[in-house]
Amino acid sequence: MSKITYIDEVEIKNKRVLLRVDYNVSLNKDGTIHDDTRIKNSLPTIEYLLERGNTLILMSHLGNPKGRDKKLSLKPIATRLQTYTPAYHVELINDFLTDDLFKVKEKLNMLSNNKTIYIIENTRFYPGEKKNDSEFAKKLAAFADIYVNDGFGVCHRNDASVIGIPPLLPSYGGLLLKKEVSVITKGIEAPKKPLVVVVAGAKVSTKIGFIKKLLQISDAVLIGGAMANTFLKAQGYEIGCGQFEPEFITAAKEVIEYANKNKKKLLLPTDYRVGNRNDEKTEGVIKKFSNMDANECPLDIGPETEIHYSAIIAQAKTLIWNGPVGYFENPQYALGTEAILKAIIDNTNAVSIIGGGDTLISIKHSSVEGKITHISTGGGAMLELIEKGTLPGIEVLKR
Ligand code: 3PG
Repeated sequence: MSKITYIDEVEIKNKRVLLRVDYNVSLNKDGTIHDDTRIKNSLPTIEYLLERGNTLILMSHLGNPKGRDKKLSLKPIATRLQTYTPAYHVELINDFLTDDLFKVKEKLNMLSNNKTIYIIENTRFYPGEKKNDSEFAKKLAAFADIYVNDGFGVCHRNDASVIGIPPLLPSYGGLLLKKEVSVITKGIEAPKKPLVVVVAGAKVSTKIGFIKKLLQISDAVLIGGAMANTFLKAQGYEIGCGQFEPEFITAAKEVIEYANKNKKKLLLPTDYRVGNRNDEKTEGVIKKFSNMDANECPLDIGPETEIHYSAIIAQAKTLIWNGPVGYFENPQYALGTEAILKAIIDNTNAVSIIGGGDTLISIKHSSVEGKITHISTGGGAMLELIEKGTLPGIEVLKR
């Protein structure tokens, strides 16, 4: 059976390595980096390859630019990477296709004592990236002897830098990819039971397949966040001015029916904190889910739901969490998310896996380090790996 070979299972020495990382980090309004976990988590692979005399050419996307966009340049990322790799000079290649091409090639040929880490400017500045254009992939592949993918967070995409290059070069998985794939796969293929999953966040549309899959394999699925509104609406409840997705009401109904028919535990919040999302001074009012007025906005799960969900989380042997359960950007409505996190941390008997862009933004990394079994760098990638068991970026590495 074909499988991925990871970089620590093969000798890669003194080579030019094209390394796909996922540096699609969250940015502050002023363009500075909000959270650099994805950069930090790529360091073991970078260091491993550098220690073996390899020259690295890093590639990543940032956001979804339509052509070149200064605001989405990898410049701040290159600067941050520089602080983590002081023994090397990090050089951002502005445009590898035109003016810098010969310069880069020339430098790459001077392999011995090369103390530079190259990083190619945002791959999505080039239209060939999203189209998985074969000529674009060939041009990138021409820089290197070997391709390594360590960008787990982007493995669900069919971009050229993810699936276009591996057929052209000997290709391997990086250390972060190895960890993500093994922990998540083990968590769903042979979970210690009970397996309890918290699925929340704004949209049910992006997570419906994931929820269906989780209902099949887990003992309880606890729903929170604005997506719970769509489920409540599907059952005919008033959700006030709560955000919901009208076009997904039918899908939500189907999920509820599936859960009832198969005696699966699909839990929805029983109370809410309602109020004004922009008012950071006033506490939310506690309301029963069945008693909401048309002008009230549910912004967080209420204390009764917190207690109920926490009790179920406390019984779990495997825990998966994706998505904040409230409007955590306003501290008045971050309480539910904090309660869920506390319950997960307090259950020291469980294997805990958490992930998803907003989930990570909603918690402070420093506060959970060492207390969660695995914090995934993947958002959509983690959901899709759980739902489908594999990802395009993983399949293409298999030999
Ligand atoms: C992510 O943040 O989920 C990955 O980097 C993928 O980004 P994308 O959703 O823009 O393709």
